[in-house]
Amino acid sequence: MSIPKKFQLHHGLNRTSIKWDFFSQDVLPAWVAEMDFPLAPPIKEKLLAILNSSDTGYPSAHLEEELRTVFIERMQAQFDWTPSDLPPVYFQDAVQAIFHVVDCFTQKGDKLLTLTPIYPPFLEVGEKLDRPCSEIELSNINGVYRIPWDELRTAAKGARMLLLCNPHNPTGRVFSKSELQTLAEIVLENNLIVVADEIHADLIYTPHEHIPFAQISPEINAQTITLTSATKAFNLGGLRCAILAFGHIEQQKLFAKRPWQIRGGLNIMGIHATISAWRDGNTWLRETMKTLEQNRETLVDYIQNRLPEIICAKPQATYLAWLDCRNLNLGDDPAAHFLEHGKLGLSSGTFFGKAGAGFARLNFATSPTILNEALRRLEQSVKNTRG
Ligand SMILES: Cc1ncc(COP(=O)(O)O)c(C=O)c1O
Repeated sequence: MSIPKKFQLHHGLNRTSIKWDFFSQDVLPAWVAEMDFPLAPPIKEKLLAILNSSDTGYPSAHLEEELRTVFIERMQAQFDWTPSDLPPVYFQDAVQAIFHVVDCFTQKGDKLLTLTPIYPPFLEVGEKLDRPCSEIELSNINGVYRIPWDELRTAAKGARMLLLCNPHNPTGRVFSKSELQTLAEIVLENNLIVVADEIHADLIYTPHEHIPFAQISPEINAQTITLTSATKAFNLGGLRCAILAFGHIEQQKLFAKRPWQIRGGLNIMGIHATISAWRDGNTWLRETMKTLEQNRETLVDYIQNRLPEIICAKPQATYLAWLDCRNLNLGDDPAAHFLEHGKLGLSSGTFFGKAGAGFARLNFATSPTILNEALRRLEQSVKNTRG
């Protein structure tokens, strides 16, 4: 079995990031949402120019203003959505932004709602801030996930906030306009505040289309706080820059009362990288989406033909595949088996809520060669279970 450190260097990757560092040397990692691709040239040039001029001081207010302009232009150009003219708030960390919003707009004991399986911090925020969270399990028919409306309507009574991930991590669902409209009815009937995490919105496969939740109607815009960043689509996770946009002046005023020091300032490299990504990164993104689409085909074909026990529908968005491994009878955490027997590092489904038991998440934002090696390791470890 090849040794990933050598493997990594052999493939031109010399990474110190968590993806390549977390597991032992003999494990091929395919877990956290980082990409193995080279940075988009406009971002790289911008960052090199910053370093060449030692421009590593504190970011100016003008730079934040430029980020705001680019954010608005980007939302208009990509999604035909014009965010409100209320000043957004910037964070280094999108997860920190989620925690701030929950802390600011709900009280201890207030009920949160989310659609599971879900990106783990959506569940951790309720646990850590003492807000009970109802996990509404998406109904899963052969890997196709739908919102269970009756259950959601019941749970929404008496709830305060909906934590919505659109596109949805880990299932890769892109919610359709009619789904978002029905969701909007439930939100308005129950006067829910919505945190719409739309960080994966640039990673959509045709024919699907991202519709920002705030764009559904002016009433919904007023209930919604949108979170976005360039980190997922442009692999800027380590540069740390996220944007929180308010739909109503009362939200913005309430949030503005929080001392900025408890969220901290931004990183100048992160702001420049986000501006370059959104302004000049589309050519790179188009090429990257082609690679991701080919990888998605490779992955789904491989699983259908060689690992039929695993159910994996094509994700409509994201570079994350949600593998239903329950037919393999490996218990709640099949990722532990793949790690031990295949030296393959996936994300454990159990982190994504009760609905994740028996599942694992695989990141396919890598070269076709590395993806094939990951699939070979997966198959190898499944063979061990077939006897
Ligand atoms: C849905 C979602 N929200 C937030 C984040 C965290 O983003 P960041 O690292 O930019 O803070 C991720 C990272 O994978 C994510 O998938």
